[in-house]
Amino acid sequence: MSLVERDQRVVWHPFTQAKTDKAPLPIVKAKNSVLTAEDGKEYIDCNSSWWVNVHGHGHPHIGKAISDQFQEIDHIVLAGATHPKVVELAERIVEVLPSDFTRVFYSDNGSTAVEVAIKMVMQYWFNKGIEKKRFLALEGAYHGDTFGAMSLGQRGYFNKPFEAFFFEADYLPFPSEDKEAECLAKAEELFKSGEFAGVIVEPLVQGSAGMQMYRPEFLNQLMKLAKQYDVLFIFDEVMTGWGRTGKMFAMNHCDDTPDIVCLSKGITGGTLPLGLTVTKEHIFEAFLHDEKTKALLHGHSYTGNPLACAAACATLDIFETKESQDNIHRICEKHAAFRARIDGTYKLSDLRQCGTILAVEIEVGEGSSYFASIREEAVEFFYDNGMLLRPLGNVLFLNPPYCTTNKQLDYCYDKIEEFLKMKAV
Ligand SMILES: Cc1ncc(COP(=O)(O)O)c(C=O)c1O
Repeated sequence: MSLVERDQRVVWHPFTQAKTDKAPLPIVKAKNSVLTAEDGKEYIDCNSSWWVNVHGHGHPHIGKAISDQFQEIDHIVLAGATHPKVVELAERIVEVLPSDFTRVFYSDNGSTAVEVAIKMVMQYWFNKGIEKKRFLALEGAYHGDTFGAMSLGQRGYFNKPFEAFFFEADYLPFPSEDKEAECLAKAEELFKSGEFAGVIVEPLVQGSAGMQMYRPEFLNQLMKLAKQYDVLFIFDEVMTGWGRTGKMFAMNHCDDTPDIVCLSKGITGGTLPLGLTVTKEHIFEAFLHDEKTKALLHGHSYTGNPLACAAACATLDIFETKESQDNIHRICEKHAAFRARIDGTYKLSDLRQCGTILAVEIEVGEGSSYFASIREEAVEFFYDNGMLLRPLGNVLFLNPPYCTTNKQLDYCYDKIEEFLKMKAV
């Protein structure tokens, strides 16, 4: 029986309609930016394997760090115990973030990092005895698949069966430049009620919505309003962190910083699951009390797993190299040149870039939808041409590992243009 046949008998795939979707690609090896299938065919990993594999697959430095750590401690409970790597990583995270972040809470993935942030905000006000229960988010948002994260995400076909169980949230329209003033006015109107506990955004780029981009100037203004009305601000940098926007974090493009930031995905270079919720000291202080129930009574079995922490420290080591920073810069420039090359030539509803993320939105009559039919054609075309590029609806996008070579990038650009010549003229 082939790998795919065995898979189809027992594996339940995420975001997949098993009845109608194509069988999965059987990948048996991954190195740098190249994935090798069971039949030997190679694919360029155009989206860093769900946006996590920032330094490329099988990086020897990360592999060694995990292996070395395994010889020391594989796992230890983080309630009532600690270990060197969990401390080292927290020290390095607060070092790499802007200076007023001081506390690192550990969990397992992007959704839990967000879930923890939401619970922190809820309990912050609860502990202070202040009645603030409303949350503000952006239309089009995706913050993960746990209930709190879903409650603050875009309502619609992804979440329909669960919607009756969500807590209420208010939404601002997507803050495209022409809507910024309207969004800010609406935010202020809502904040004036004094009922808002928190606001959450994917800063600068909404990933799952189709790599939709907006300006740091808007975030500066929204942060100012939140501060003025005492609303806690969460940046969900699960996707935008780790160099994706051209700077280490999206917040590095802004004038101010949020109260809480959620990190995951690229943090272990795509090797092990890890989520971090990092806060400023005033958030942590709101949980200090003689009463035990004022503590954040939340945790996961794998919280602060030493192997994941070692992988994250090694990932940070690589970010500290000139080569890695040069690569990020190089990809930003290559994307910009490609953008200039195709701008105005094809029937696109938008062509946009933020750092190492390039998005090509093909004009389709049916509007931008995850299920747009052009998506299936694109997936097929890129598979055939040796690229694992999973479009978001009618949005083709590249967010490749930073080790992706110029030759590989040029190949991807040429193939994207070939697709546009067929489908967007
Ligand atoms: C902005 C953002 N937040 C949260 C998540 C959820 O992360 P995870 O899939 O690791 O649970 C994602 C995943 O794509 C994301 O893009």
